[in-house]
Amino acid sequence: MRTVLLTCLALTSVAVLPVTVAAQEAADAVAPEGVSRGEITSSSAAVAASLAAKGAGVPVEAQNWMIAAANPYAVEAGAAILHQGGTAADAMVAVQTVLGLVEPQSSGLGGGAFLVWYDAQTGAITTLDARETAPMDATPRLFQDEAGEPLKFFDAVVGGRSVGTPGTPALLEAAHRKWGRSNWGALFEAGITLAEDGFEVSPRMAGSIARDADRLGRFSATAEYFLPGGTALQAGDTLRNRAYADVLRVLASEGAEGFYTGPIAADIVRTVQEAAGNPGVLSALDLALYKVKERPASCASYREFEVCGMGPPSSGALTVGQILGMLGGYDLAALGAENPQAWRLIGDASRLAFADRGRYMADSDFVPVPAKGLVDPDYLASRAELLSGETALAEVSPGNPEFDHAGLVPLWADDTSIEFPSTSHLTIVDQYGNVLSMTTTIENGFGSRLMSNGFLLNNELTDFSFRSHRDGVAIANRLEPGKRPRSSMAPTIVMKDGAPVLAIGSPGGSRIIGYVATAIIAWADWGMNVQQALELPHAVNRFGTYDLEADTAATAMEPALSELGYKVNIRDLNSGLHAIEIGESLKGGADPRREGIALGE
Ligand code: GLY
Repeated sequence: MRTVLLTCLALTSVAVLPVTVAAQEAADAVAPEGVSRGEITSSSAAVAASLAAKGAGVPVEAQNWMIAAANPYAVEAGAAILHQGGTAADAMVAVQTVLGLVEPQSSGLGGGAFLVWYDAQTGAITTLDARETAPMDATPRLFQDEAGEPLKFFDAVVGGRSVGTPGTPALLEAAHRKWGRSNWGALFEAGITLAEDGFEVSPRMAGSIARDADRLGRFSATAEYFLPGGTALQAGDTLRNRAYADVLRVLASEGAEGFYTGPIAADIVRTVQEAAGNPGVLSALDLALYKVKERPASCASYREFEVCGMGPPSSGALTVGQILGMLGGYDLAALGAENPQAWRLIGDASRLAFADRGRYMADSDFVPVPAKGLVDPDYLASRAELLSGETALAEVSPGNPEFDHAGLVPLWADDTSIEFPSTSHLTIVDQYGNVLSMTTTIENGFGSRLMSNGFLLNNELTDFSFRSHRDGVAIANRLEPGKRPRSSMAPTIVMKDGAPVLAIGSPGGSRIIGYVATAIIAWADWGMNVQQALELPHAVNRFGTYDLEADTAATAMEPALSELGYKVNIRDLNSGLHAIEIGESLKGGADPRREGIALGE
C-alpha cells in the first residue's frame, strides 16, 4: 500500500426539445464518475453486516436511530454522533465532513446542498437551500463563445469559470444552530482524525480518478493529490490530507465565518481567478455575502401520501411531485412492476414533467415560477389525461400551469442545461424522531477540478442554461449574478397522516428525479421493502428515450417498450439511493450500485 501525504497544501414545442436531448445525451456519454462496483473492506462487524445485506433485498433494521449514506467511513462517523445522543443535524455535520474527504469526487466543502428536515417537536417540514450562487461579476453569456454559441461542456467545466460560491460550510452551521444538540467542535473530530491518520482510497474513488486523470492533471494542486508522482491513486492506498484537517479545525473553532472570510476564502478566490486557461470571476465579496436560505417544503399528493422536498431552485420536488401526481389516477399496483404498460405510464408522465421543468423551473428569487400551479391536483389531472392511450406519446410539450403571482404570465423558452451524475445523498433519523434527507454535490465528478485548501471547488454554474435566450425569448434558468442554478436534486420525505414514513434521495444528475420517483412507486405500489425498492433495476425516461439499466432484468422490457414506440437505450444507470422507512421500526436501505451502507441502533 502506498501512503500519500498532502502537506500544503424553447419555445412551445417539441421542435426544440431534441436539442436538449442531444446535448444531454452527448454529455452523458463522457461522465467521468462512471460505475465502479468494488468492495470496501472494513473491520467493523456492523459495517460488514450492512455491506452483506446490500443486494439481497434486506433492509437494516433498528429501533432508535438510523443512518444511510454513500461511504462506510462517513456512516460510522454519523452513527457515533447519533449513538452519543446527537441529533440528525449533528450527525450530518460529521457525515458531510467525512464524505468530503473519502468521496471527494461527489460532494464537499467546495460545493452546495439541499436539506429537508422533519421536526419531531413541531411536526413541520422545512428545507434549507445551500445551493452554490453565481458571482456578482458573472453574466448571462459566461458559457458562450464570442459568437454567442454555447461552449463545449468540459471547456466550461474545467477551471475557474464554472465555480459558484460554495454553500455547504454555511449549511453545516445553519443546520447545527437550528437543530443541533452536540458540541459543534466535536462534530469535526472524525474528519480531522481521518484526514491526518489517513483513510483507504475506495474502489469507486480510484476508478473515478483513473477515468478523469487527464482533467485532474491540468492543475498542480489537484494533480499532486490525486495523481501523486504522476500515478493515479489506487484502491487501498492510504491517503492523508492535512490541509483539509486544517480547514476542519478552522470551522470547528471559528464557525463558517472562518471559511467565508480570511485565508481560506482568499485561497479559494486566488485559485478561481488564477485558474490557468480558464479563470473565473468569484470574489471575496461573493464569499462574504453567502447566505443559506430557509424555504417552505414543496409537497405533492400521491395516493394517501404527501411527498415533500426541495422546491426552487431545485426542480427535484416539483418534477417528482408532477410525475407521481399524474400517476395517482392509474392503478400501478394492479399493473405490477414488470408490466410495460406501467412503465409507459411512468415514462410518459416523466416526459410531460420534464417538458414543464425545461420551461418553468429555475431560481424563484429571480424568475416567477408557478410552484403551486405545477403540482396543483387539477392541473396534474388534466396532464394525466394525456396518458390515457396505449402507446408512447408522439409529442410532448409543456403545459400551462397557473402562475402564483397576479399579472402578466412570463414567456420562457425551453432550456438546455446539462447535469451530470455526480453528487451524494444521505438520510438520517435520530432517536428524537427528527428526519433529515440531504443531497449534496460539487456537480460534475471532481467539480471544476480546482483544489483549494485540500478540497475541490464545484462547477455548479454549468447547471445554468448555457444559452440565455432562444429566438429572442429568455430562458428561465439563464445565468444571472447572485442567482442559483436549477438543480435536479430531490431530497424527499414522504408523509402519511402528518407523520414521516419514508426519507429518500439519490445522486444522478437529472435522472435523480426518475430514480426517486420510481423507488417511491416500488415502495408504495409494488409492496417492496425499502432495500428492494432501491435495488429495483432502473428504467428512466426524461426526453423520450427510455434508458434501461444494463445487466439487469430491466433489459427484458426492450422489445415491449420499442413496440410501444420508444427509442430504447441500454446503459449503466448510476444511482446512489439512500433511504429509511419509518414505521414500528426503522428500516435503512443503501443502493448496491455504490459503496454506501445503512447503520442503526
Ligand atoms: N448538479 C446536480 C444537481 O444539482 O442536480
